[in-house]
Amino acid sequence: MGTVFSTLATMAMMAIGFLLAQIAQAYIWDGKNEDGTIKAPWAPSPPHLPWYWNGYKEFQTNTYRALTYWSQQLGSIYSIKMFQKRVIVLNHASVVRKALVELDQWNSSRPLTTDAIETIMGDQGKTVFTAQFTAHWGRLRRAINKVLRDAPVVLDVVGKDKKNKKNSTMQQFQNVLHQGKVDPTLLRTMTNRLAMEAVIHMVMGEQSKLDPEWIDTLIQVCHDIEQLQSSRWYYQYGSLVPFVRTLGLLLGGQHRVVQLRNKALDILLQMDPITNGNSVPTSLSNIEPSKNDPTPEPIPAEEIMINTLHLIMHGYCLLATSFFTLLQRLAQQSPIIQQQMATNPAWTTSFVAETLRYTPPLRLYTHTAKKDHTMEWQETSYRVDEGTYWLINLDKIHFDASYYPNPYQFDPERFLMNNKDQVPSILDDEKRTQGGVKDHLAFGVGRRGCLGSRASQRWMVTLLTRIVQEYELRGGDPDTLVDHSTGIWSWTGRTETKGATIEFIKKTN
Ligand code: HEM
Repeated sequence: MGTVFSTLATMAMMAIGFLLAQIAQAYIWDGKNEDGTIKAPWAPSPPHLPWYWNGYKEFQTNTYRALTYWSQQLGSIYSIKMFQKRVIVLNHASVVRKALVELDQWNSSRPLTTDAIETIMGDQGKTVFTAQFTAHWGRLRRAINKVLRDAPVVLDVVGKDKKNKKNSTMQQFQNVLHQGKVDPTLLRTMTNRLAMEAVIHMVMGEQSKLDPEWIDTLIQVCHDIEQLQSSRWYYQYGSLVPFVRTLGLLLGGQHRVVQLRNKALDILLQMDPITNGNSVPTSLSNIEPSKNDPTPEPIPAEEIMINTLHLIMHGYCLLATSFFTLLQRLAQQSPIIQQQMATNPAWTTSFVAETLRYTPPLRLYTHTAKKDHTMEWQETSYRVDEGTYWLINLDKIHFDASYYPNPYQFDPERFLMNNKDQVPSILDDEKRTQGGVKDHLAFGVGRRGCLGSRASQRWMVTLLTRIVQEYELRGGDPDTLVDHSTGIWSWTGRTETKGATIEFIKKTN
């Protein structure tokens, strides 16, 4: 009996000790470095926010617009608590360059914990999107880049699917355009299919097996997961409040997500990925570790497949969103501009760049700090703790008149090569002499920048050129936006264009 009591007493003491250590960490040591010196102050914060929610309620209602509103009072860098989680918001390209390019070794990580959906879809930080800043993450990126950098544009896949006797996705799309007037719902469905097929080819290789039913199922899974994430409170709050995430898991919140994830993985397995020549799964299974990688073992098959799935879902979602907006924007251009795009690829490339500047599908994205440090910027020191989120606010940066004169005017010419000397490059003035379309941040920044950017742009430019060569477009609505509270799969959201009917008028010659 005595032994039982003494064991219980020891456990109680341990629990109290743990609790006191947590309180000491949170309150007594908060604001102090390990050597006891005082940390630099946080970047300024908006005043009078409610005690517990802090900025979250406002953010949940107005998303990036709330962040832009606060930036008008607080400037290029400020910090805000979402519940009790500290987030540093960056609203100017030069402070983005400081934090995420010059200090990239410290600030290119991802959080240890995320909400239940991101945890399941990223298999607890194992995909290239969710992994922390480690040699292993670098290995994933190298393997993926090897495939994506040269991924070909595949537009015309097999004429007919023999088994199902269905037209190919491109044939279905062409049939729809032949109808003349196409309503936004049908156009979006077709755009989704084209984007999913394109991304599967980029990731799985040109030769991968592809059944039209798989395309629709993968699209449906992606939408179901986004729907789930925006409709359940424990997913929405889980990234910012660890307790809520745990509660969500206890309530069985992961069950449906696991079902959906497995449904998608079953399809990927049927595509014969490993034997497939130049594909991401093959590249991931062959890639050598770097010399300093503490995990040099071959990448396990499950990790390869979960990475492949995450890439496909991210690529599909953003490519479909971007291409739909491009069509809506194109339909608003004069016949002269459309004709210029039909004959001059530089024009189409600039058009894509300007559309992504004006309407980026992700107006916010995050990196996290890998360690405590101080950032010096414009003669001020700012505190950064390990795990602090950096939030890059394109809603402000992409409309900065010092980079983009008349920022609220849609003007593809600003990206044309012959105009490049008038347009400062947003992150690096040296790049200005090289011109190019990277002068916006829609594809991310620094070490975690998008590896699919070039393949995506090639695909969008090629398909758009084909469309303007065959049709003149009229109608469309690129300016009515729909904001989602989740993006693939993060809490920072995604924005798309609602769209309107577009008339496709067949050109005679
Ligand atoms: C128009 C289409 C796309 C847009 C707008 C886009 C945008 C982005 C953004 C904003 C990021 C985060 C960057 C950051 O954190 O700094 C990102 C990362 C990434 N994207 Fe994309 N993306 C697109 C298409 C694709 C496609 C098609 C693929 C692959 C098939 C892809 C693969 C990746 C990868 C591998 C990363 C890096 C993950 C990391 O290291 O954390 N993306 N993308």
